[in-house]
Amino acid sequence: MSLAVDFLHALAQALSTIGLYSDEHPARVSALEHLLEMLEALLAENRTPTFTFFKEEVVYLEAPLRELKGWGLSKRLSECGIERMEFTAGISADTLGAFIVDLHLYLIDKKNLEEGSIDTFTGIRFGSVSLFDDSSGGETDLDLYEQAGKAADLFAEARKKGQVSSAYSRSVLDSIWAAMHADEEFSIPLVPVEAGNELAPIRSMNTAMLAVAFGRYMKLKGSEIRMLAEAALLHDIGKIIIPDEILNDTGRLDPEGWKIIRKHPIAGAKILMRSGERFEMAAVAAYEHHLDLDGSGYPTLTYPRQPHRVSQVVRLCDVYDAMRTTRSYEREQPMGRIMEVLRGGAGQKFSGELVEHFISMLRDWDSKFTRGDTGGIELI
Ligand SMILES: [Fe+2]
Repeated sequence: MSLAVDFLHALAQALSTIGLYSDEHPARVSALEHLLEMLEALLAENRTPTFTFFKEEVVYLEAPLRELKGWGLSKRLSECGIERMEFTAGISADTLGAFIVDLHLYLIDKKNLEEGSIDTFTGIRFGSVSLFDDSSGGETDLDLYEQAGKAADLFAEARKKGQVSSAYSRSVLDSIWAAMHADEEFSIPLVPVEAGNELAPIRSMNTAMLAVAFGRYMKLKGSEIRMLAEAALLHDIGKIIIPDEILNDTGRLDPEGWKIIRKHPIAGAKILMRSGERFEMAAVAAYEHHLDLDGSGYPTLTYPRQPHRVSQVVRLCDVYDAMRTTRSYEREQPMGRIMEVLRGGAGQKFSGELVEHFISMLRDWDSKFTRGDTGGIELI
């Protein structure tokens, strides 16, 4: 049997374990490990293994796989719009796991691939066959929209299940990391907020991107940056409990509206605490991200304390991103005003040391912000 056939059998096996076993079950873990081994073997043989599914026929590269003629999974994949699957080197175990979970959702009708579209994970693309031959460009824009879509899926999943899916969270973090390292030069490609898009997922993703940048600027270890990025990505997950009419209110909220808004840190921490140990730090940051240095702010603490340093960094990135974004009730602020707010809050709302490092990062890495987000303003 060829490696390609072995790989597809391993894929089918991994998909069946998703439906049967929980996240950490040994059968599921071992099926994913086996799939990763098969994929690595396939990648050693070919740089871009590509499969085409056409009803019950499977084509690997240019040749039909006779052993798989009449294969049911091929028919099911092509029926849900997944006609092509392409892999490239550098796929992590986490990414492969997230991809399998995603594929499973398509197959059980929980997710629909729009006609003529593709879905991606770092190193994996799948979807309509017609798009794979489209070399008309727009790669960067496509990446940005895909990232925004994945963050929106993460929020939608949490809204549906009352928990955050670790596979979705990892997938968004992978996308953010890939977008920031897409070129040889490290960059900070903050995603524009487009009319009609849900604001919280995009703002959360940009806050995570700023946290990655700040972590790198502070020379933190990779694992610390990842933890910081996940805390930033999920800090506002509690907003899923807030009705849209309050979140999108274009005027000044009344006291009742504010009362509801102020519930989101506790709601977020609760959602994250029931989502697994992995999210412990994110739960702390969600709870504390509206607290000042002395523990004032909201939620009201019985015994005021200084927030965790991760929460402080998340707050700084969030406040910066909020001010540079036009929201329903406020336009983006000029950079001079943003600097005033950050410096004005140093020592009270934010740690003075963190503010100075953050402003230094904006100044030193101005050219890395692909949309010129520091606006070329003097950041003295
Ligand atoms: Fe918040």
